[in-house]
Amino acid sequence: MGNFLAGKVVAVTGAGRGIGRAVALAAAADGARVVVNDYGVAVDGASPTSEVAESVVKEIEAAGGEAVAVADDISTMAGGQRVVDAAVTSYGRIDGVVCVAGILRERMLFNMAEEEWDPVVATHLKGTFTVFRAASAVMRKQRAGTLIGFTSGNHQGSVSQANYSAAKGGIISLVRSAALGLHKYGVSANAVAPVARTRMSANVPMELTEIGEPEDVAALVVYLLSERAKEQGVTGQVYTIAGPKLAVWAQPRELRAAYTEGSWTPERIADFLPGTVGVDPMPLLERVAGMEKAAARGDRPNA
Ligand SMILES: NC(=O)c1ccc[n+]([C@@H]2O[C@H](COP(=O)([O-])OP(=O)(O)OC[C@H]3O[C@@H](n4cnc5c(N)ncnc54)[C@H](O)[C@@H]3O)[C@@H](O)[C@H]2O)c1
Repeated sequence: MGNFLAGKVVAVTGAGRGIGRAVALAAAADGARVVVNDYGVAVDGASPTSEVAESVVKEIEAAGGEAVAVADDISTMAGGQRVVDAAVTSYGRIDGVVCVAGILRERMLFNMAEEEWDPVVATHLKGTFTVFRAASAVMRKQRAGTLIGFTSGNHQGSVSQANYSAAKGGIISLVRSAALGLHKYGVSANAVAPVARTRMSANVPMELTEIGEPEDVAALVVYLLSERAKEQGVTGQVYTIAGPKLAVWAQPRELRAAYTEGSWTPERIADFLPGTVGVDPMPLLERVAGMEKAAARGDRPNA
């Protein structure tokens, strides 16, 4: 228990279970009043129930904190708006939003159906947009606020979750856009790529060598929501937290450039590219090849 978030109002999506629940409990324990959003669905997004959001509100209240439940689907504009409205109506302001809600529908790209693509992208990417959109309108007027998106190491690429990977990559670009567009209004935006034991990570078809608990992730989120992170100028960043490990991801940038005289043609590029700009090797390709070999031997691969 601390007072990192004393007086603040924070909304957390996907706060009924796993990492979102740990974030909501930690934010409340550090003094925030919390909007607990959860649609209460299965890992694949099916079978909603309002009970999980309400039960986390009860946990926060039992510990002496203040919280309200919103059991809406944040992949809709109205759902995202209601999460923010609940904060403003109940507590008069919104200082931070943390978009943790997520689902999985795993399938190889060549077999993936529209019903597997659309809900995954809608929950992660649009579900971050709907809440950022509603919150940033209030934060711009307040001239203060913090937006936090949840991405994944899988934004680098994924063998069997192209939908999830694409959505998580999109969240990073959305967060960086929010950081750029809202900087002058005193609003920061950052992304977290966690690795923690939850029902979702239990589905990963490999042994995760670097993994922690949802509470580790919550500690990072509480810091990012706090005045300390604001004073330290933290915005536009992507952090991984995995048990004892805390890491920052690089900003995307051009690696090498070369220039031609006159115009490019496909043939000139074919002659010129290998010895000049070349390629940037993809580490995950090597790891995947190793995993395929291990699987062929019957071992459970490590990540
Ligand atoms: N656990 C990990 O190691 C890990 C790794 C990388 C990224 N992540 C990301 O962290 C976030 C949390 O994951 P988790 O492991 O705690 O998962 P989880 O399945 O335990 O919790 C996700 C919660 O989101 C809720 N939810 C789903 N769709 C919703 C919607 N439309 N509206 C509101 N709530 C909705 C679910 O009901 C559930 O309670 C996700 O965005 C996930 O992609 C987790």
